[in-house]
Amino acid sequence: MSDQLLKTPLFEVGSIWVKSAQDLGNRIRTAILLLSDFRDPATYVTIAVALASIVALYYLYELLFVPLNRVRLLGDLGYVPEGKLTQKDMVNVVRKRRMVGDLPPVYPNGWFAVFESHELKSGQVHNVSFLGKNLAVFRSEKGTAHVLDAYCPHLGANLAIGGQVKGDCLECPFHGWQFRGDDGKCVKVPYIEDKNIPAIANIHSYQVLEQNGFVQIWYHAEGVEPHWTPPVIDEIANGDWTYRGRTEHVINCHIEEVPENGSDVAHLGHLHGPIMFAGIDLRYTYDKIWSFGKHMWAGEWSQCPDEKHVGILRLKHSMKLFGIHIPLLDMDVEARQTGPGIVYLLLKNKFWGRGALMHCVTPMEPMQQKMVHQIYVNRYLPTVFAKFIMLGEALMVERDIMIWNNKKYEGKPVYVKSKEDGLIAKHRRWYSQFYSENSPRLSFKQDNMEW
Ligand code: FES
Ligand SMILES: [Fe+2]
Repeated sequence: MSDQLLKTPLFEVGSIWVKSAQDLGNRIRTAILLLSDFRDPATYVTIAVALASIVALYYLYELLFVPLNRVRLLGDLGYVPEGKLTQKDMVNVVRKRRMVGDLPPVYPNGWFAVFESHELKSGQVHNVSFLGKNLAVFRSEKGTAHVLDAYCPHLGANLAIGGQVKGDCLECPFHGWQFRGDDGKCVKVPYIEDKNIPAIANIHSYQVLEQNGFVQIWYHAEGVEPHWTPPVIDEIANGDWTYRGRTEHVINCHIEEVPENGSDVAHLGHLHGPIMFAGIDLRYTYDKIWSFGKHMWAGEWSQCPDEKHVGILRLKHSMKLFGIHIPLLDMDVEARQTGPGIVYLLLKNKFWGRGALMHCVTPMEPMQQKMVHQIYVNRYLPTVFAKFIMLGEALMVERDIMIWNNKKYEGKPVYVKSKEDGLIAKHRRWYSQFYSENSPRLSFKQDNMEW
């Protein structure tokens, strides 16, 4: 073909390509027609099998190689439908009817995850709402993550809705003022006459730490500077452990309920005892039908002696099926609760090695939390295995969610004399370090039953 093209006058080259394409088309059509006798039912069976195989291959590929992404928003789970009401309808019913209890402040002080690193591309801006603030999270053109209060000090436009990233600044979509990501300083007003941008034109910028797969900000009710920082997990930073999936849940409860679960070792054997296949609906998980398997847990919670802001849960998990211990699913977990909303769960198993689950919980509203987990395991472990571990963990958390969504915060629990209840009391004393005088409290309008 190429020799022929070189010897052909230029105006004829086009027609040669057209002819070649027509030849190829004719050949494919003939091949299909030869295979397809549409009067023969076998042709339809062949086509159906071929299509089913393509779909099956796609799902197999997803299962084996694509990281897990399990997202369960408010109303997807954790409620009991009543009459014609669905789980989604029950969200508001339960919110209105339940006892709120004697709540601690709703936004503790510390580092909180506000975005996942892999979802924030250079030049992008996103609007999120956490800790009673509306935030603009953006990544500069050079790749640095920044977080600003979302409202422009000029006329109040939302910088994250239509705002443009310009270098390391965010430009307001309304009149084009530009704010620097580092310090929130207004550095450009396109139509200003005297070049003197007033200092008051600044916007609040948050201290940002981007590590272990999350963009984290420092929040403090009194504006106190950070006096501790969450650690970097070296194996994640240097790529020895790779990302294999995430789960995202929105939960209807006070933030402290979530970390308190780590010190509540008595619930492990009960709520998390039934085998994972029993599912997440607590009306059925205790059914005898699931008694062929059982998870066993031994846990101990303590405050870290060296770092006041760290609490440590040491957990041993094992599983029995039909009375037979399955060593492959044994797991030693060291969960380091670092501040009010970040936990590093270091996982260890003698067959598949080590890995980490990053757990972040951040208040979206006083009684609504966003919880995200990411899993990182050694890069040689098959993705499907990491997904199984993560799914098992997610199912266990979803049982907790059914409790959290429907419970009240009990400010004065009835404890019994036991090591287990003693740990909960200890955890509450430890967690109280994250509240300060001006930490916001929930104001509940009894008259219209709305938050
Ligand atoms: S409202 Fe932002 S520049 Fe005017
Ligand atoms: Fe739990």
